[in-house]
Amino acid sequence: MSSPTESTATCRVLEAPHPTSLDAPDAWAYLGIAQVEAEVTTEAHGYDDLADEARDVLAGMNSQRYTTKQRVVAVRADAPETPRPQDVLGHLAVALPTSSNTHLGELSVKVRPAHRRQGIGSALWETGEKILVDAGRTALFTDTQHGTEPPPGPGALEARTGAGRVPADAPGPRFVAGKGYALEQVERHSVLPLPVDPALLDRLRAGALEAAGPDYRTLVWEDDVPPDRREQVGTLFTRMSTDAPVGDIDFREDPWDAQRVGVWVDELLGKGHGLLMTVTEHVPTGTLAAFSVFAYPKDRTAFAFQEDTLVLREHRGHRLGMLVKVVNLDELAVRRPATERIHTWNAEENDHMLAINIDLGFTPAGGYAGWQKRVGA
Ligand SMILES: CC(C)(COP(=O)(O)OP(=O)(O)OC[C@H]1O[C@@H](n2cnc3c(N)ncnc32)[C@H](O)[C@@H]1OP(=O)(O)O)[C@@H](O)C(=O)NCCC(=O)NCCS
Repeated sequence: MSSPTESTATCRVLEAPHPTSLDAPDAWAYLGIAQVEAEVTTEAHGYDDLADEARDVLAGMNSQRYTTKQRVVAVRADAPETPRPQDVLGHLAVALPTSSNTHLGELSVKVRPAHRRQGIGSALWETGEKILVDAGRTALFTDTQHGTEPPPGPGALEARTGAGRVPADAPGPRFVAGKGYALEQVERHSVLPLPVDPALLDRLRAGALEAAGPDYRTLVWEDDVPPDRREQVGTLFTRMSTDAPVGDIDFREDPWDAQRVGVWVDELLGKGHGLLMTVTEHVPTGTLAAFSVFAYPKDRTAFAFQEDTLVLREHRGHRLGMLVKVVNLDELAVRRPATERIHTWNAEENDHMLAINIDLGFTPAGGYAGWQKRVGA
């Protein structure tokens, strides 16, 4: 990328240097981005479980095999030549998928709450849109995150799917709508406090095992996916990209293969995260029919993220979704007993997956909104 070097009265906009480590002198930008992340997510949710840490930024930027990523920061106008982390007032993250979805580009801008309404967000946004448009991307995607999902009414903006809302007056929606983006979809953010009542888990496990019958068995993998299973797990991730509801967001099939599963594992471990995956094998054919994944920072044991869960279409109707989730919870309780809560996100229109999570005890904790603007083409 040619270096963006826009200036306003309050800030300079420049490409974030990519350090070799977080101890390097030029790590100031990634350390500053992490500070902004912590402030903005705490503002929305009251806690920072969801904030990217500096190591997440570094590991993410080191991993560009399937997506080209760029990071831009806005630093205070009077910052020293080598700014300090606290001089970073806002940041822009840009992602350009390269192995699929090459029509699509993603951007995200965050500004420290104390430095809003001075044009910093707009300066970063213009830089981001220019990168995406210059790269020929015609569907621009962004997201906003909210600690509450408002009831229907004048204070709420409804997603084009007809399910899910965001607070109409929150800074993110006001800003993004003002830039011409449409609120396409809202995912419900839910949290499950642990431990789950053992009697409830016993009942759900027994029901799922009975519905699954002897043709299915579960396998559990921690911090790796066996090499001879990676191609099959890649198929599950590929189906995730086509089967999970996305409203009118122009996400198209995103093919995964064995190599990409390996890259995904390496990136997670590279940023100090762990993973726990339960799969269901259809024994007569050896097919992996379902999977469910937890991921978590290894050094912050209070929380975990419920990542993808999917049952292949041809294996639906056997309660395999509940089965993989319950077994993964069982395993988490044994392998990471300090976990106090699990965060997850599901499309508001995804009734079936929401029903499973509600049965398990997940309760609403906010919303994640997907916004899209079409350009050119
Ligand atoms: C959204 C965000 C990036 C805006 O940053 P910012 O530096 O305040 O943005 P700007 O000063 O360039 O604001 C541009 C315009 O957006 C609109 N806007 C921004 N915040 C607003 C608010 N709280 N209420 C009403 N309008 C708002 C206004 O039209 C504003 O122009 P104005 O100040 O001349 O009226 C910032 O509030 C933020 O970090 N929010 C959390 C993360 C997020 O939602 N990011 C956006 C999607 S990735």
